[in-house]
Amino acid sequence: MQLTEDIFPSKLAIGEQFCNRTKERSLFKTNFSKSRHMVLISPRRYGKSSLVHQVILELHLPSASVDLFLAHDDLTVTKRILQGISEVVSTILPLSEKLLTKLQAIFSAFKVSLTAKYFNIEATYTGATFDAVDQIYTALNALANLLKEHKKKAIFFIDEFQDIANSQSAKSIQGAIRNVAQQTSDIVFIFSGSNRHLLLELFDDKSMPLYMLCDKIYLERISSIDYCHHLNAMALKKWVAKLPDQTFNQIVKYTELHAFYMNMLCNQLWLLDKLPNAHDVDLAWECCFDLEQRRMVAELEKLTKNQQDLLKALALNPTMESNNQQFLTTVGKAASSVRLGIKALLEKDMIYIVNQEDSGLPMVKLKQIRVLDPLLAYLLRKYS
Ligand SMILES: Nc1ncnc2c1ncn2[C@@H]1O[C@H](COP(=O)(O)OP(=O)(O)OP(=O)(O)O)[C@@H](O)[C@H]1O
Ligand SMILES: [Mg+2]
Repeated sequence: MQLTEDIFPSKLAIGEQFCNRTKERSLFKTNFSKSRHMVLISPRRYGKSSLVHQVILELHLPSASVDLFLAHDDLTVTKRILQGISEVVSTILPLSEKLLTKLQAIFSAFKVSLTAKYFNIEATYTGATFDAVDQIYTALNALANLLKEHKKKAIFFIDEFQDIANSQSAKSIQGAIRNVAQQTSDIVFIFSGSNRHLLLELFDDKSMPLYMLCDKIYLERISSIDYCHHLNAMALKKWVAKLPDQTFNQIVKYTELHAFYMNMLCNQLWLLDKLPNAHDVDLAWECCFDLEQRRMVAELEKLTKNQQDLLKALALNPTMESNNQQFLTTVGKAASSVRLGIKALLEKDMIYIVNQEDSGLPMVKLKQIRVLDPLLAYLLRKYS
């Protein structure tokens, strides 16, 4: 059977492409009903954005999905947040000229217009007098009032939130968001972002406005049992048969259940006409390697020599104790440089400490320090 849909996307996984996360989805829904704001944290490419989009899709609720990627100045941040507010407004009100007048009265400090698809709310700024903090605070409050009047509640998802840190009024904008988040229970904020380290600085630092505002939700890798169901459903669609155990085990061994690599590898495998065997998985993984090699080498080049050596050692021998004598002897380094290197690699999300075992991956042990990217670990082992 020829499958034309992108069942293993490299971007957001939604609907049929989406595998499991039952526990997290239910937690999101409970938190939403209690109006608890959330920050979703994980290393890169574990599936944060997909999860929130999937939950929004399932809840059928008014929502905004704002992406602050490269929003490095006040004007861009304000524009994106106003776009999010426009999104919510357009889902709760029917698009009509009559309502436009009403909406203009509620959002009196803004320019409100009606297009064929949505109400558009824009800032009425005049160069130097533009005040991002005031605009964002006023617009979010107006949205809260509108939601209350219509007895509705909305999800306001802000992704790549760490990028706000570069804007001129970053701290005051976060203060404005905090005020609104504390005053209303009709807007539930969900924050996330791909730079875990920078994101946590905004939520864990006592001096930051959003400190202790949100429930933290840590996302782990999807389990092999859940992937087994998902991949078999996709295999049945494509080859009208389930995957042989050996094939599945080989997929899990290479990808280590990393969502991004799972999709990359399966995307290759699902191009085959016949049900793949373990050898086909080897070939497909090599193909992924060829595609990604340059990017990985560029990533490695950004590291210091000490960090590169440590990463290589960890790819070959994941360890529980980076300061035990055996590991120090293997890497041939002093305890202090190993400590510094490990700290830097953790901050860069190049390595991680395992806090969840999986029966499909017996070699991955609790508390082990491992290279986070399974393809990078493969490259390091290949060239060692
Ligand atoms: N639940 C899931 N089921 C199937 N595939 C998934 C799932 N979650 C994520 N993926 C896949 O994993 C990859 C990363 O997903 P996504 O972009 O949602 O992650 P992210 O954590 O937001 O990444 P980043 O840290 O870069 O922002 C994509 O290829 C996506 O299709
Ligand atoms: Mg993301």
